[in-house]
Amino acid sequence: MGKGSGYGKVILFGEHFVVHGVPGIVSAIDSSTDAEVKKGIKGLNIKDERKTAKGYSEEKRLQQVESIERMLKAMDLDPKTPLDIWIGGTLPGFSGLGASAASSVAIARAISQELNLNLSNEKINAVAYEGEKAYAGNPSGIDNTAATYGGLMWFKKNPAGGQDFVEKIHVKRPIEIVIGSTGKVANTKAMVEGVAERKKANPKKYDPLFKQAENLAVAGRKALESGDLKKVGDLMNENHRLLQEIGVSSKELDLLVDMARKQGAFGAKLTGGGGGGCMVALTPGKDLQGKVASAFKTAGFEFLSTKIGVVTY
Ligand code: PMV
Repeated sequence: MGKGSGYGKVILFGEHFVVHGVPGIVSAIDSSTDAEVKKGIKGLNIKDERKTAKGYSEEKRLQQVESIERMLKAMDLDPKTPLDIWIGGTLPGFSGLGASAASSVAIARAISQELNLNLSNEKINAVAYEGEKAYAGNPSGIDNTAATYGGLMWFKKNPAGGQDFVEKIHVKRPIEIVIGSTGKVANTKAMVEGVAERKKANPKKYDPLFKQAENLAVAGRKALESGDLKKVGDLMNENHRLLQEIGVSSKELDLLVDMARKQGAFGAKLTGGGGGGCMVALTPGKDLQGKVASAFKTAGFEFLSTKIGVVTY
């Protein structure tokens, strides 16, 4: 049997904008998806035991099968190779946490081990990127990169399609965050396509927003590296406003963001594809983290208390 894992992630700056070549900042979180793969007899047999938002697995089922077939092809294998696949782990199947990319990386690693392919991390990342296309249409590659390597990183897509520009970001100490889930499953592919259409139809509005997103990522990196967490939070708030303007936030996301800010979070924004899914609040220190988490709990929302900037490789 082959085994593999992939990290979940939160995007601190630049989701959606990264798809169009703007730099973004992403951090792996200490929850991962695990996969086990065994050669099968007929077709793909998938047992998905992840904890998920209601309807997540059903909504993603077809994309999941397409994703695995794409990955087999990218490994120069027959896309119809019979496999028994188990998926589980600590990363919940909430939209926005890179769960699809984490599962792609985990499955690619498990297939590589089961079939003795000995794939390098670079190859696993490239294979998972192919798998991500089934879920995101035209993904930036930020999710699979975080899922493969872990850590806190600066990411800029290579528009020519070659190696992306990735750099490790160092912070003085890991920083507490709370991730709040709206409980709503989102379709990343539809959200990414919607932004691309609106951008094309209205460059006068969108081009300056994309420029602002780039400035935010640059300033966000500086603030993270210098340990100015108040500033990081302010910039995250700004980033949420830009995401609202490009039409990817939702009523529930705005509600969770407001709730976190009222409890004293340094900053809060939606994270990932939006339109449902998750938001992230910057809550340095255990006390503040606990305060925001209990507000979410009281209001009946699921959440994950974790840290960014934990060195994982
Ligand atoms: O919702 P998620 O976890 O799949 O994150 C999507 C992030 C986007 O920037 C919207 C798409 C991408 O490929 O970068």
